[in-house]
Amino acid sequence: MRMQNGRHLVNLALIGFMGTGKTSVGRLVADQLHFDYLDTDDLIQSSVGRSIADIFKTDGEAAFRALEKKVVAELANRTKTVISTGGGLPANTENLASLKTHALTVCLWASPEKIWERVRNQSHRPLLHDADPQKKIRELLALREPFYKQADVLMNTEIRTVREMAQQVTHQFRLAIAGQK
Ligand code: S3P
Repeated sequence: MRMQNGRHLVNLALIGFMGTGKTSVGRLVADQLHFDYLDTDDLIQSSVGRSIADIFKTDGEAAFRALEKKVVAELANRTKTVISTGGGLPANTENLASLKTHALTVCLWASPEKIWERVRNQSHRPLLHDADPQKKIRELLALREPFYKQADVLMNTEIRTVREMAQQVTHQFRLAIAGQK
């Protein structure tokens, strides 16, 4: 594979807000492409032996973001991997630029209302432990939108099943790889 614009697309990174389906879609895509599957939150948790919630609670969000940055740098050594990223990871210019050097970036998108519907019964996300989680979702999404929209592919998750999304993502990846040859 040749380099194009300083990019060498050997991996696929899923970015997007909490609750957009990165994990379920990512696992299916990894199966379809016969790629490994990695989740940046899992990498962080196993590197420090603690949960994301505990890192936020004990050390604060800045410490979590520093761990995220470290993981992003390590990802550049991977090949044939589908990488599912934490919702805030690409909301940092350096993280997004680093991912783009080796991965096709696909953003899964949903409206704040849909996101709320999907996450309201889950409790493991510290950023949503807020007096007004719906407002928090709207605010965070607005802040992150300019980053998410820099993805190579933007996919609306509200009109497709997880299986359809995975098929689309796999298709887009194959097209991108073919275009690189
Ligand atoms: C976060 C999203 C979470 C996790 C952490 C922070 C965010 O990942 O990284 O709780 O800033 O949006 P998911 O997007 O996988 O839920």
